[in-house]
Amino acid sequence: MPTSIAARGYQTGFGNEFATEAVEGALPVGRNSPQRVAHGLYAEQLSGTAFTAPRGSNRRSWVYRIRPAVTHGEFQPYAQPRLHSDFAHGAVSPNQLRWDPLPLPTAPTDFVDGLYTMGGNGAPDAHAGVGIHLYAANADMQGRYFYDADGELLIVPQLGSLRLLTELGVIEIEPQQIAVIPRGVRFRVELPDGPARGYICENFGALLKLPDLGPIGSNGLANPRDFETPHAAFEDVDGAFELIARFQGQLWRADIDHSPLDVVAWHGNYAPYRYDLRRFNTIGSISHDHPDPSIFLVLHSPSDTPGTSNMDFAIFPPRWLVAQDTFRPPWFHRNIASEFMGLIHGAYDAKAEGFVPGGASLHNSMSGHGPDAATFEKASAADLSRPDVIKDTMAFMFETRGVIRPTAQAMGAAHRQRGYQHCWQGLKKNFPG
Ligand SMILES: [Fe+2]
Repeated sequence: MPTSIAARGYQTGFGNEFATEAVEGALPVGRNSPQRVAHGLYAEQLSGTAFTAPRGSNRRSWVYRIRPAVTHGEFQPYAQPRLHSDFAHGAVSPNQLRWDPLPLPTAPTDFVDGLYTMGGNGAPDAHAGVGIHLYAANADMQGRYFYDADGELLIVPQLGSLRLLTELGVIEIEPQQIAVIPRGVRFRVELPDGPARGYICENFGALLKLPDLGPIGSNGLANPRDFETPHAAFEDVDGAFELIARFQGQLWRADIDHSPLDVVAWHGNYAPYRYDLRRFNTIGSISHDHPDPSIFLVLHSPSDTPGTSNMDFAIFPPRWLVAQDTFRPPWFHRNIASEFMGLIHGAYDAKAEGFVPGGASLHNSMSGHGPDAATFEKASAADLSRPDVIKDTMAFMFETRGVIRPTAQAMGAAHRQRGYQHCWQGLKKNFPG
C-alpha cells in the first residue's frame, strides 16, 4: 500500500498562477511542453475552463508526472448505493425539513463509500446546479483514488480532520476549514483523527470564485491571501490499485498499476485550495437592521444571469450584534433561492434547539422560515442597550438558484426530524398588541 505523502506547505492567493516543484529542475522554464521534460517526466495539461474563456476566468494547469493520466485499465460501473445524481425526478414539497447528524458507520468505510446524497438540482451535463452530499467515514482510502468529472467538490468537515492527498499536493483540513478539489483532480483521503463527518457541495456550474465587493471596497469578507494551495508533492508507488471516477452521475472503477498521485511539478491556476473560515472578516450593521445574508458570502458559483448565483456558500461565524431597535437574530423570510444549511460548530442563533452540529436543514424556494418560537420570544424582550456577542458558532449555507430536491433516502431517513415544523407553532398572535 502507498505510504502517506508528506505535505510540503502552501502557496497563498486565490486563483493565482502558481509554480511548484517537488524535485529541483522538474519544472520547465519558458515553455509548457518541451521535447523532453527533465527527469523523464511527462507533460500534461489539465483544463478547468474552455480554452477560450476570458483571461480573467481561464483556469488550467500544466502537470509534470511520472506517467500520463491515461495509463489505467478500462472503467466498469461501481456500485455505491447512497450516492445519487438524479435531481430531476422524485418527490419534492414546500415543507421545511431538518435532520439530525448522519450516523457514523460501524463497518470500515472510506470517504468514497461514506458519501451520502441529501439532494440537489441541475445536472453535470448542463453545467448547472449542485449535488449536496454528506460524508461519514472511519477508514483511510487505501490503494484507491477518486476524481469527480462532474463538479468541483467543496468539502466542509464537521467532525475529524481530513488529509486530502491530491495530484497537486497535500491539503490538511479540520472542522472550520474548507477545501475545494477541482473537477478531474485525483485524490485519496486519510482520516488522521479517526472517524470523520462533513458536508460536500458538488458544484456542476461555473467554478467557485470570490465575490465582487462593491461598496465594501478592496478588503473584507474572505481575503484572497487566506486561500492556500499546496506545493507539489508526489508518490512513486507501483501496485494493484483502483481508480474511482464520478462521471455523469455514476461511479466507475478501473484498475491502475501505480499511484496517480505522481505529479512531481506543476504550474497554473487550476488547483485545489483550502480556507480557514475563522479568518473570515465578518461585516454587519452598526446602526439598525441586518444586511441581507449575502454579506456572509465566502465563495460563489455564478450563473449566466448577472447577480444570480448557481450556488452561494455563506457562513454565519462568531460576531457582535449591536444593532439598536432591531430584532437581532435572522428575521422571518421567504426567498426565491433555496437554502441547505449545516452546523459545523456550536449553536446557531436562530434556533433554540434541534439544529445540532452535523445536522442539516432545507428551506426551499418561498417556504417561510426564521427563528423558532423560543428564539423569537427571547430576542423580542432582549436588552438592546448592550451588545451581544455570539462566540461559539459556525453555521453555513449552500444557497442555490434551483430548488433542492431531496433524495428518497434523505426523506425516509430515521434521522430526519418529523416534527420540525412544531418549532414555529408556538408563535402566537400578538395583534392588536
Ligand atoms: Fe433562510
